[in-house]
Amino acid sequence: CGIVGYIGNRNSQEILIDGLRKLEYRGYDSAGLAVYTENGLQIKKAQGRLAILESQLMEAPLSGTAGIGHTRWATHGKPSDVNSHPHTDNSLKFSVVHNGIIENYMALKEELTAKGHNFVSETDTEVISHLIASLYDGDIVKAVQKAISRMTGAFALGVLTDYEPDKLVAVRVASPLIIGVGEGENFIGSDIPAILEYTRNVFILNDGEMAVLTRNAVELMTLEGNFIAREMFYVDWDIVTAEKAGFEHFMLKEIHEQPKAYRDTMTSRISSEGDRVTLQEIGMTPDEIRAINRIHIVACGTAYHAGLVGKYVIEKLARISVETDVASEYRYRSPIITKETLVIVVSQSGETADTLAALREAKRCGARVLAITNVVGSSVAREADDVITTWAGLEIAVASTKAYTSQLIAFYLLGLHLAQTLDTQTPAYIAEVITALKELPAQVERVLEQADQIKEFADEISTHNDLFFIGRGLDYAVALEGSLKLKEISYIHSEAYAAGELKHGTLALIQEGIPVIALGTQHELMEKTISNIKEVKARGAHVLGIGVEGEDELQKAVDTIFNIPRTLDLLAPALSVISLQLLSYYASLARGNDVDKPRNLAKSVTVE
Ligand code: G6P
Repeated sequence: CGIVGYIGNRNSQEILIDGLRKLEYRGYDSAGLAVYTENGLQIKKAQGRLAILESQLMEAPLSGTAGIGHTRWATHGKPSDVNSHPHTDNSLKFSVVHNGIIENYMALKEELTAKGHNFVSETDTEVISHLIASLYDGDIVKAVQKAISRMTGAFALGVLTDYEPDKLVAVRVASPLIIGVGEGENFIGSDIPAILEYTRNVFILNDGEMAVLTRNAVELMTLEGNFIAREMFYVDWDIVTAEKAGFEHFMLKEIHEQPKAYRDTMTSRISSEGDRVTLQEIGMTPDEIRAINRIHIVACGTAYHAGLVGKYVIEKLARISVETDVASEYRYRSPIITKETLVIVVSQSGETADTLAALREAKRCGARVLAITNVVGSSVAREADDVITTWAGLEIAVASTKAYTSQLIAFYLLGLHLAQTLDTQTPAYIAEVITALKELPAQVERVLEQADQIKEFADEISTHNDLFFIGRGLDYAVALEGSLKLKEISYIHSEAYAAGELKHGTLALIQEGIPVIALGTQHELMEKTISNIKEVKARGAHVLGIGVEGEDELQKAVDTIFNIPRTLDLLAPALSVISLQLLSYYASLARGNDVDKPRNLAKSVTVE
């Protein structure tokens, strides 16, 4: 979910809607505003995309200079008008927007119901507004503090009350929240882009902090009310990065930004002689690195798939045993974590609740935690011991592309850094990998130039309901990501299979005309992969091969071929995945889907 808030002298409706538009990537199944009007606090909310709320507001605007807004991704209670935020209490004097989950809301609801409160929604958030109302005694800040002390879970809040119309109260417990500071006006937002059009001066709230905003001041304090002094953070990003720059969709723009993302992520980390990697951000001494006896990579979604590539890369380069886990599973399987374990958490946003929880568990068990994230100052970045920032820039499309590939680059750099320290590879091999890495951006450009070839195949598969991705080794890890991308935005069901495993069951599903995308970029595994392609061809599959220029055998075995430029086997994922991103983009387009905002998904999921 996404939160915005405004208190100033301008009409708040426009500013709040504009902020919500920037936050739609956090969820878009309903949206709402609460504004102080001449007639007191007024709420308007609607199920569906923000555009629906906007059209209602066109007919009946909410006029006032302070308000809060919300865009929702449903957790407790289905998407509906009544479950949308802001929520209020029976007196209609308090209004709350919330991102996160109140874990003990059922108990609080029962308690408040017994005291005569009537609830209209199925949400946990409505309980907060009633709780604050029940504790209000002339001071909204104290009422919010008392309410928080009764609540467990994760929550970012924006709170208004009719009784104190010159105050906006903001709270951060786990879920992210920032404060924007203007002249005669102040803002809250779930992230910086939400308010960037209005101010570049921000305070980032830490976990367990709150803020009281008036038109002319912002006070930061702990949840107990102790004031906090903090330096303001000046945002120097360019606002156009948040726009589409002429591309039809953010996803296509972000796919095309990958050469730059690769360069930005690697450039300052490779020595000018091109023979060494320097990751100054890693504070571990050589002795500490030598003491690592196992690595756990933990992440969700696409970042998890980057972690699967990371496992191959680190094991091959640094010869340390690596396990990659889905964050929501990791904590609950009693992982063996010791002081000699390095836990690497990977998260584009740095705010994914499952990943953050895994990070905290790893730290609690004494592991050193290294984060790979795209957002400086994000929760994951702040809580990890060391951080490798991927310089992919702001990613807006829900389906991750440039963030994933820059995570791959981060893993290559990390693998090389560990290998250098541990002496597991010769300097000559390290230099060879670095040379090949530096060629990648130009090679990605060549893949992008051939997008039309991929589009043709995408148009073809867009009429199918099921298909398969197969590959071995690193190709299997990429197949998983290709399949996820396709499912996310085209809604075509697909499965990624380790090519050699197909014959142990799934071959039963291969029949005449089924499309199979076979990745064959791994030189050493080529013969075996081709056998597996023959197995599906013999059952009538229509095969698109993703190969490497100059490898004729694969071409002979498949119906259609798409070749990536020649590179080291180890680096092939950074090129082959581009073709699969294009495939899912064009398949989604052919099906007339909303490419940037696939149904049911959100860019950043800050609930467990
Ligand atoms: C959400 C997004 C996915 C993303 C995952 C992890 O589910 O829809 O695209 O891969 O979160 O996000 P993170 O920000 O932690 O990389």
